[in-house]
Amino acid sequence: PLIPLRPLLETVDKYHFAQGAFNVNAVAQAKAAIEVHEMFRSAAILQGADLANGFMGGRTDFQNATLEDKKIGAKNIAAAVKKYAENSPIPVVLHLDHGKNFDSCVAAIEGGYTSVMIDGSSLPFEENVELTREVVKYAHERGVSVEGELGVLAGVEDHVFSATSTYTNPLKAVEFFKKTGCDALAISYGTMHGASKGKDVKLRKEIAIAIKECMMHENLFGVLVSHGSSTVPRYIVDEINALGGNIQNAYGISIEELKAAIPCGIGKINVDTDIRLAVTRNMKEYFAQNPEKRNSPSIGGVYKLLEEKKDQFDPRAFLPPIMDTVMYGIVPDEDRAELVSVI
Ligand code: G3H
Ligand code: 13P
Ligand code: ZN
Repeated sequence: PLIPLRPLLETVDKYHFAQGAFNVNAVAQAKAAIEVHEMFRSAAILQGADLANGFMGGRTDFQNATLEDKKIGAKNIAAAVKKYAENSPIPVVLHLDHGKNFDSCVAAIEGGYTSVMIDGSSLPFEENVELTREVVKYAHERGVSVEGELGVLAGVEDHVFSATSTYTNPLKAVEFFKKTGCDALAISYGTMHGASKGKDVKLRKEIAIAIKECMMHENLFGVLVSHGSSTVPRYIVDEINALGGNIQNAYGISIEELKAAIPCGIGKINVDTDIRLAVTRNMKEYFAQNPEKRNSPSIGGVYKLLEEKKDQFDPRAFLPPIMDTVMYGIVPDEDRAELVSVI
């Protein structure tokens, strides 16, 4: 079944574990993600970022996606996830990642998302509170959960960019939960977005501990979210480069650091980059193993883009030639079917 984020967070909080949250950019990826979670008998949080909605709305230059594009994308992905979730034994959440403004959140909710993130982290504290409170009011009235963000993560991922990080102030975080009524909060404690997080990153886990301690004293509910948590597996980067890619300076957060953050109070762990890397590797491997498909009228265009953009690993840079498949999951021929099975 498709559920809001809140009840899952209550379980996470009660039993002190963390739930992974994975970004998708295509209908086929949502289906695959649900199947993998079923294998592990785990609930699933699927995330579509604001611009991912634009992309899934058919906008190949998704950086320029309009609200209209995002509305279409939200509808497409939500309709597919709803169908898959209704036929699945596991609870599935469809969550908007890094909602840019109030309208983006409304577009996601109207499309059928069951949870939204409003990212007001670039705003002054009081403005962030105000915006988040408005989204909470709108969302909660419709049974939709809300994640906010306080503090700034360094790194780049489309419109989410900052050169340096500002760690979350624990007392401000507690005040933020109190004033906004949000269900979850993304904190800045040493992670960053993207594939270049730096070598041997140590997380400031004491920030999470301090927030959770205060929350407990004041009897407040709220789950802390670790964004920028990809591990950037060395072997995947090496395989991409061995297949003709050129990805440099790739470092993620170690799995040990992530595991250690869970008993400190982290309850949701966001991963996008690792999936992007794996999908890029898979597509390159597919064309290496099936050279005759490089000229396929159906998917040859994807190969051309992979060859042109050697330093990129965002699948959205390569998928435009099969946009209808990305949007609606329509697989018109055998070549498409094979390629979709690797993304
Ligand atoms: O955390 C950030 C997301 O991974 C960004 O995704 O490239 O769709 O904005 P996007
Ligand atoms: P990564 O770039 O580390 O995968 O982080 C993803 C994320 O925070 C999505 O919101
Ligand atoms: Zn993020």
